[in-house]
Amino acid sequence: MSSQPAPPLGTMTVEAFLAGVWQRRPALLRGAFADFVDPIDPDDLGGLAMEPAAEARLVHRTGDGPADYAVDHGPFTEAVLAALPVRGWSLLVQAADCWMPAVARLRERFAFLPAWRVDDIMVSFAAPQGGVGPHFDHYDVFLIQGMGSRRWRVGGRCDGDTRLQPHPDLKLLPGFEAVEDWVLEPGDMLYIPPGFAHDGVAIEPSLTYSVGFRAPSAEQALLGLAGAVTDREGEFARFADPGRPPVAGAGAHIGAADLDRLRGLLRRMIDDEERLADWFARFVTEPKIEDLLDTMPTEDAIGLLGSVDSLALDPAARAATVSDRDGGLVLYVNGEAYAVPTDQVAWVEAFAAGETVPRPLDPAGQTLAAWLFTVGGVMTSEDEDG
Ligand code: SIN
Ligand code: CO
Repeated sequence: MSSQPAPPLGTMTVEAFLAGVWQRRPALLRGAFADFVDPIDPDDLGGLAMEPAAEARLVHRTGDGPADYAVDHGPFTEAVLAALPVRGWSLLVQAADCWMPAVARLRERFAFLPAWRVDDIMVSFAAPQGGVGPHFDHYDVFLIQGMGSRRWRVGGRCDGDTRLQPHPDLKLLPGFEAVEDWVLEPGDMLYIPPGFAHDGVAIEPSLTYSVGFRAPSAEQALLGLAGAVTDREGEFARFADPGRPPVAGAGAHIGAADLDRLRGLLRRMIDDEERLADWFARFVTEPKIEDLLDTMPTEDAIGLLGSVDSLALDPAARAATVSDRDGGLVLYVNGEAYAVPTDQVAWVEAFAAGETVPRPLDPAGQTLAAWLFTVGGVMTSEDEDG
């Protein structure tokens, strides 16, 4: 990385992007990465697709129709990858940033958004005419064009009523109508908000880095909070109706006042700021690939800590911070929490945001740093090669 940070969005300012584009409309950010150098090559991606813990897919075109795609799930053998034809397929590996620090470093460009908002970076290699078909995603995505060129057609916003092609594995859009039609060259970037139809077809052998964002659904939040409520309040938080007026006759009606009481009960659960923050921070720091975390007992962590000069977040780890009721800082790493002593806040905030920080030397800092190793939060020398 050069010492002079490049503007993250090409000619568009971050302010203009956040005010008018983010979550609102697709945008082509031409030349967002000047002189882009691919952090991996197609062979590295093939190697990753052979790993049992990696989430890899091969999507083949089976014809020219909009639903003519077939998908195979990894891990793949070298023989399968070597036998792929010249055209009409795409190999995709989810969360490649968790495996490869060089891919994870692409996240630095998105520092204008909170680090916890980024979910993962998927990398795809598409042979000419390869792609995954017209579809929409539920998340924001920045598609960075690496080697080669790719034609992206972008359509309108879809929703729960949008009809999908009948297909056993893929959610493809029938009758996709493009509003925009762009050819992306290395270093160009396309932003697609949640729900917008898009379809990318490689013109030349092409690498695409999809920086995807994390956004819980209402269902996930309600279910997650319900779990936290059950732990804390147990049996006692219940529907209650003191001072209820008598019903007129043998009524079986649930009235608006009853629903207000129920709503009040639910609101009290949601209004508990600390619980809300705790659930949200645990959710957004859930690791993508548990198997990749080097968690360890405290004794090993203390030993390892003594052998390093600096600390950086493991590419497979996720971190966030929240404020507690008294204004103190709580650090979450990989779904685990640590109350940060006041004199450690500065380095912890930098570390959680992805900066490399010097190893703390005071006892409170050492204890916290050792905890980071126990939860698999620190990049070790084995991770650094990628
Ligand atoms: C791809 O890289 O082929 C697909 C990315 C996307 O459409 O989200
Ligand atoms: Co997509």
